[in-house]
Amino acid sequence: MICDNLSVNALGHLCMAGQDVTNLAKQYQTPLYVMDADRIRDNCRRYRQAMQRHFGDSARVLYAGKAAAFKQMYRIMAQENMWIDAVSSGELYTAQQAGFDLQNAVFHGNNKTDSEIAFAIEHGVGLFAADNTEELLAIDRIAGEHNVRQHILIRLTPGIDTHTYEAVNTGKVDSKFGFAIETGQGEEAFCLAASLPNVVIDGFHCHVGSQVFDSDSFLKSARIMLAFMAHIRDAYGYTANILDLGGGYGARYTEQDPRLNLDANIGAVAQCIRQACKASNLPVPAVFLEPGRSIVADAGLTLYSVGTVKTIPGFKSYVAIDGGMNDNPRYALYGAEYTVVAAAKMNEPCGFACSLVGRCCESGDVIQPDVKLPADLKRGDLIAVLTTGAYNFSMASAYNRFTRPAVVMLEQGKHFVAVQRETVDDLIRLDL
Ligand SMILES: Cc1ncc(COP(=O)(O)O)c(C=O)c1O
Repeated sequence: MICDNLSVNALGHLCMAGQDVTNLAKQYQTPLYVMDADRIRDNCRRYRQAMQRHFGDSARVLYAGKAAAFKQMYRIMAQENMWIDAVSSGELYTAQQAGFDLQNAVFHGNNKTDSEIAFAIEHGVGLFAADNTEELLAIDRIAGEHNVRQHILIRLTPGIDTHTYEAVNTGKVDSKFGFAIETGQGEEAFCLAASLPNVVIDGFHCHVGSQVFDSDSFLKSARIMLAFMAHIRDAYGYTANILDLGGGYGARYTEQDPRLNLDANIGAVAQCIRQACKASNLPVPAVFLEPGRSIVADAGLTLYSVGTVKTIPGFKSYVAIDGGMNDNPRYALYGAEYTVVAAAKMNEPCGFACSLVGRCCESGDVIQPDVKLPADLKRGDLIAVLTTGAYNFSMASAYNRFTRPAVVMLEQGKHFVAVQRETVDDLIRLDL
């Protein structure tokens, strides 16, 4: 199977973390997000161990909460000694309410509002990743009003093209995020930040993209960032303490996706950074990484029930499930690939070619086109879409006023609700 926390039991049922998902569907209903907490913890530990081994104690692994943010997730992150990357006061608030110490948070985003900046400063957020000139000025002003000197990283775009989906390719010069090094705006941002009385520059940040499996783009961006850091040291006498290389390592959505060797990849990045630092006589900075997808994607799957099976003679077949782009918009957004299985018929041959579609009132509401499922698929059968732990729950909407699924977590052979299923009363709660 695409991830080693998945298996098939003697009944031919799909299991995650050894638990039969058909029982979970019976108990909690569908659609249902299922998340394997043990896998999340393993992924955190793999990162922390690799970072510690290759960069030492100053390294930090920040979970990018945009991948999946809810209280239980932040409790896990606190227990696993992770830091977090947050992109809104909503994510910061969720983490704080879960007892996460916001001193260990980096606040991201390309358009933080004044009230979000104030919220973050009032709640002691450790670092801001300052994204643009207006924001630098606002952080300085609001920090001054609070008698705080706010520590920041300056977000730079190193001009790397990772050739993944355009929508998740964020390190290019032409990007809504950060200051471009190539245009001189990165240096201008440094000069501005250095002149601000209520801002302390701790280092620099970049994020080159997502769903990358080799370290090539990390190596390129690290070299560009370190050359920039050496230039800033030579020109202004400032030596950065932190180099944050963002997130981006990939997850296996299909059998075609490679298996990521995290330790080897991080080792290669460490070697490259050490060489570049030595060449320009820079001290090796504390290195931060911000993985989201590679922490939670393969810890999740989504369970659905089949509603209709429709074949149009001479054209194709559609299988419609009781969820859709409202709980998983990723195919509609950027053509994301998934592995789809009939969770109670895992040993049956899959000869029925169809498109798996949702029930939203949009022709584009497709979870995955061209999938192969058992020929006798019928109403009530259970479908599992694999590797949905990242950017599914967090991107869910109430489009068409469909209620959002519950999140059930699996841990140490047990299961429990981490996020309740939304109800129709939740939907009208704010309506006047
Ligand atoms: C600044 C930043 N850090 C981290 C991430 C997490 O990326 P991934 O989930 O691909 O690891 C993102 C994703 O968009 C990001 O923009």
